[in-house]
Amino acid sequence: MDVFGLIGNPVGHSLSPPMHEAAYEELGLDARYVTFEPDEDGAAAAVRGADALGVAGLNVTIPFKQDVLDAVEPDDLAERIGAVNTVDFSGETPTGHNTDAIGAVRALRDHGVALDGTAVVVGAGGAGRAVSFGLADEGMTVRIANRTVSKATALAEDVPDASGHGLEDLEALLSDADVLVNATSVGMDEDETPVAADALHGDLAVLDAVYSPLETRLLRDAAAEGATTVDGAWMLLYQGVEAFERWTGRDAPVDVMNDALRARL
Ligand code: ATR
Repeated sequence: MDVFGLIGNPVGHSLSPPMHEAAYEELGLDARYVTFEPDEDGAAAAVRGADALGVAGLNVTIPFKQDVLDAVEPDDLAERIGAVNTVDFSGETPTGHNTDAIGAVRALRDHGVALDGTAVVVGAGGAGRAVSFGLADEGMTVRIANRTVSKATALAEDVPDASGHGLEDLEALLSDADVLVNATSVGMDEDETPVAADALHGDLAVLDAVYSPLETRLLRDAAAEGATTVDGAWMLLYQGVEAFERWTGRDAPVDVMNDALRARL
């Protein structure tokens, strides 16, 4: 039996186990997906321990995505982002990958969104970093807006063809933009939005990384303007799909994983 898992703290409410196990069942794979909660400073030791135990793959979530870099060989994208959310143990040494970036890309593509032109990413934390690299690597011009402007400008120096701004610039930044991604926690379990409704327009595709609730105030406002909307469960789904495909070498049963995820949201 292959064991896959997730390390994070806390991981109690993670939706990854049912999403991945639905895929194992669908494809008849003899595998389990379990959660582990190492101590705050235990991420690298946990990865080494998992390797020693023959664990086949690990996802990594908050607060360990940077810490595990010490215990893996990161690929180019994970190294540039500076964070790992997927560890693969199939080689000589554990390798580290970042499927959050491609998760956002696939979520948008799945909804017919062309990834050229200009994207506005709100947020310069871990999620904002991954999304900014993902969209820039697709060839988009990325404008990063953050409450703390210095974090946006620092991130923009790392991301190709990007600029950093404060939230007060959002209306101007969005006027000719094609894609908007909320990569802040604003809207999570609250009816708040990081972007004033007036700044939205019908030519935008809007992805909200927040998935609780699925229909955030931002997505509601965007839909009212006639924009294409993509909820955060799509991003969560596709980061998992990418991890599954890397670990198993099989095409993921995306619909089954999506159903398993949405049944719990
Ligand atoms: P994650 O890894 O999920 O991105 P994070 O690294 O803590 O989490 O980043 C949270 C992001 O949400 C940051 O961009 C943060 O802005 P600051 O860098 O200024 O802290 C943003 N954020 C959180 N609460 C916010 C709020 N009330 N208004 C605007 N932005 C907020």
